[in-house]
Amino acid sequence: MREFATFEERLSAWTTEAMVKVFGLNDSDVNLGVTPTNNDKFGDYQCNAAMVLSKQLKTAPRQIAQEFVDAAELPDFVEKIDIAGPGFINFFLSNTALAEYIQSLENDPHLGAEQVGEGKKVIIDYSSPNVAKSMHIGHIRSTVIGNAIDRLYRFLGYDVIADNHLGDWGTQFGLMLVGYREFVNEEALAAAPVEELERIYVASYNKSKEDDSWRDHAKAELVKLQQGDAENRALWEKFIELSIGEFDTIYKRLDVKFDLYRGESFYNERLPKIIQALEEKDLVKESDGALIVDLEEDGMPICIVRKSDGGYNYATTDLATVESRIEEFDPDRIIYVTDERQQLHFKQFFTIAKKLEMEANLVHVWFGLMRLPEATFSTREGNVIKLAAMLDEAESRALEMVKSSSPDMPEEQQKDLATAIGIGAIKYTDLSQNPKSLVTFTWEKALNMQGNSGPYMQYAYARISSVYDKWQALFPGMKLTDCSINIEHEIERKLAIKLSRFPAAVHSAAENYSPNIMADYLYDLAQIYSSFYQNVPFLKAEEGVRESRIRLCKFTAETLRQGLNLLGIETRERI
Ligand code: ARG
Repeated sequence: MREFATFEERLSAWTTEAMVKVFGLNDSDVNLGVTPTNNDKFGDYQCNAAMVLSKQLKTAPRQIAQEFVDAAELPDFVEKIDIAGPGFINFFLSNTALAEYIQSLENDPHLGAEQVGEGKKVIIDYSSPNVAKSMHIGHIRSTVIGNAIDRLYRFLGYDVIADNHLGDWGTQFGLMLVGYREFVNEEALAAAPVEELERIYVASYNKSKEDDSWRDHAKAELVKLQQGDAENRALWEKFIELSIGEFDTIYKRLDVKFDLYRGESFYNERLPKIIQALEEKDLVKESDGALIVDLEEDGMPICIVRKSDGGYNYATTDLATVESRIEEFDPDRIIYVTDERQQLHFKQFFTIAKKLEMEANLVHVWFGLMRLPEATFSTREGNVIKLAAMLDEAESRALEMVKSSSPDMPEEQQKDLATAIGIGAIKYTDLSQNPKSLVTFTWEKALNMQGNSGPYMQYAYARISSVYDKWQALFPGMKLTDCSINIEHEIERKLAIKLSRFPAAVHSAAENYSPNIMADYLYDLAQIYSSFYQNVPFLKAEEGVRESRIRLCKFTAETLRQGLNLLGIETRERI
């Protein structure tokens, strides 16, 4: 057994081994492990092996369970074992073992989570906005959800490559090139580059609708760019640089870091080769001058891989990207995070990748859109909500809150706190709900200090931390590690059980690509803590009991801090 193994791991291993022994099984190819219970009436963990083995042993499940309970020698961390219902075996952990486990976790930076990712590589393709365009709400969610998945996988020991697959190639650059030369306002470009580039594009696009020669001119410039013309290339690079510069200020505010910024253009040279490979495998056919892959047998519409004008499509680029990623990184998995509208695109190119025998485990993590009711923002220009404006507003609303709740706090600190609260509120709103659901964003919900919100969680953390600080101030010179945790009270036990299940929450959130599982866990933990705090004395308890409770409390704070960090949410010791 590894160090810091969870009770679930230990019990699962033990029951499997004991079942094999008691019933003389050859070896077990069925899962005889345990699962956590939700109701402590049924113990802490439950095993349904009796039902699983019933057919094989030709015995009623209850009788199997009874024989097992009579014969097996309990491991020392189990207090008692009993049978329920049709033949469930329930395990009750011993309080001493539980306390010892929590104490041991204080020395584990991963709080008990097994490093299942060691030696495994995953590429996570997220955020991926388009150059010269403002990030839209879909990119915000991709950034926040993608980053939480990134953090969860790193925490589990995976070698993660966060790749920002920028949309930096396509026919729009012809219009951008001619538009820029005609319409650019240098001052506006310096002040708000992406906004100005967007304005240039719209102006150029509109002109192309009325003026054929303008459109032809744009096409000619695009061809020059594609052929490597130095001047056009330099200008195109400038568009990219300006866009990344602006995106980076947002990533910095969101505390999001990428290992790679590989735009679509990076894969250009591979595109003809992809077509060639498709042709060799007889997977393409011509249709009105375009090349298509027929996916009817796979229950999907056709996928165009080369347009009639010779240009390549989004799917072709993504196929080339997979090929390149396999060659360079040999990843165990590639995870893509985008909004739901791209589901068909991913299904199509995943299917084609398989037909091309690209050896990659490809996963599309999609999320529903975020709805922003009218009047959510005080400043709203046009129809796009600019992410920067959303973050500004979150921070200024948070600052109001901080100023009214802590008027005497130094201004610097108020601002720092408002940043953590504002950004945390937006992230938590996004991450606390099932990614696949439609999220309706309101400030009332995002900033609600009483409900399941970012600020509520941050406040819970600060409150818990302050208990430890108070204890330290009252009993200077005492060391918590000199006193051991003792679990006596029912609510103490409940808290300890919850703390011991942090690893399961991390694994489940990562495996299911659902950061909301982590958010739910943390919210439950905060609530259990809160009833612990309300129901038993802390600082007023007798010596020993007092230290035991403070120690549990300190570990709860650490678990909350770590869990929120996995969601990309910062904590502060004081609120
Ligand atoms: N640039 C695309 C968009 O803005 C998202 C790219 C997602 N990643 C990918 N490999 N297709 O919609």
